[in-house]
Amino acid sequence: LPDSYDMAAMGVADWGGGPVDDHAAMDGMEGTAVADLTADLDATPDVSETLTVRVEAGDYTVNGTSPGPLLEVTEGDLVEVTLVNDNVQDGITLHWHGIDVPNAADGVAGVTQDAVLPGESFVYRFVAEQVGTFWYHSHQVSHEQVQGGLLGGIVIHPADAGTARADVDEVAIVHRYDGGSTINGELGTSTLAAQPGDEVRLRVVNTDNGLAQAWVTGAPFRVLAIDGSEVNEPGDLEGTAVRVPAGGRVDLGFTVPDSDLRVDFSAGTTLLVGATPAGARPERPHETFDPLSYGAPVADLGFDPAQPDRTFDYRIGRRPGFLDGHPGNWWTVNGRLFPDTPMYMVEEGDVVVFRIENGSSDTHPMHLHGHHAVVLSRDGVAATGSPWWVDSLEVEVGESYEVAFVADNPGLWMDHCHNLPHAAEGLVAHLMYA
Ligand code: C2O
Ligand code: CU
Repeated sequence: LPDSYDMAAMGVADWGGGPVDDHAAMDGMEGTAVADLTADLDATPDVSETLTVRVEAGDYTVNGTSPGPLLEVTEGDLVEVTLVNDNVQDGITLHWHGIDVPNAADGVAGVTQDAVLPGESFVYRFVAEQVGTFWYHSHQVSHEQVQGGLLGGIVIHPADAGTARADVDEVAIVHRYDGGSTINGELGTSTLAAQPGDEVRLRVVNTDNGLAQAWVTGAPFRVLAIDGSEVNEPGDLEGTAVRVPAGGRVDLGFTVPDSDLRVDFSAGTTLLVGATPAGARPERPHETFDPLSYGAPVADLGFDPAQPDRTFDYRIGRRPGFLDGHPGNWWTVNGRLFPDTPMYMVEEGDVVVFRIENGSSDTHPMHLHGHHAVVLSRDGVAATGSPWWVDSLEVEVGESYEVAFVADNPGLWMDHCHNLPHAAEGLVAHLMYA
């Protein structure tokens, strides 16, 4: 379905991306396809990794584990990742969720590249321009492969040496495998090594299909970043649960107290910080953190969302019909079934406003590839806090959001629900540059 549909059938066969060029000769890598990127293909990468994927009985590993290796790079690095498919018959790709890579490195099978078949490899190259917390995952039959574990984290640290790193800087990947809910692949309760007085940055990554909630007990905390973008002047929070949409990331910051500190997750997992004993699980606070009014606004966003060049509707619904020849009750965008869902056309440099409206009876974590959008309003209430930049936005039943972005990354980009079974059921549209 959306992972592998035929673009030619959509009348966009000649959009310019096409199948990947084979730069094998130029690159000295025989039989290896290379994404044709803006990054200089001759330049020596600063970071070079090989990720080999295997599957056994539906469980996927990357270099032998799931999650796969955590990639830690520095802003400005030329990153080169060679993806090797050991034995996945359906083929695989890597999508760099939240990183605005050049289109050819976006890893969408059937759109920006062909799936990498067993015995084949593919080289992704991009310059790590954004600082923050991101993740990578397959974008081929993704509702099976991502849930099955074909995923890992990637953190881009600031280049500026003056930006102090937290004493403890850790990623917590929240994922539900067939065997149960985990943090970084560990079932149930895990421990974060820290000392009283340590400043902690905990990068929560929700790689699941459903909403995750996290709450800190034992100290005030701050929301330092959302979807990789730093919050401007984050204030102290207490007694509030933080929601992390499927695909989304939230960086939590806190100082380890002398007493017990723990972070609990709605899936039933717990992270004990320092020497905290397990104890009874604190109840989830009734209050929910709301980014709409958190932190301080900035003087200049870098563009003016009040003067958009294009305004689009993305209305989510559901109705009976045929999807890929199969009858069923499928998701719709603006009343239309995939693949007749909208192809939103933009020109480079456009200021684009999307009005996302959820008229269906289920919640949808909406993910736009290749761009970051800033939230302007929810249900008509204007955002008043720090710019709330998202690539993964939970749009609950009946909610409507206005978001804006600058079309600054030419290509063909998916805009879909990251509850991946929903995407497989047609909740997919595209953004395309004219
Ligand atoms: Cu993380 Cu198109 O997805
Ligand atoms: Cu959905």
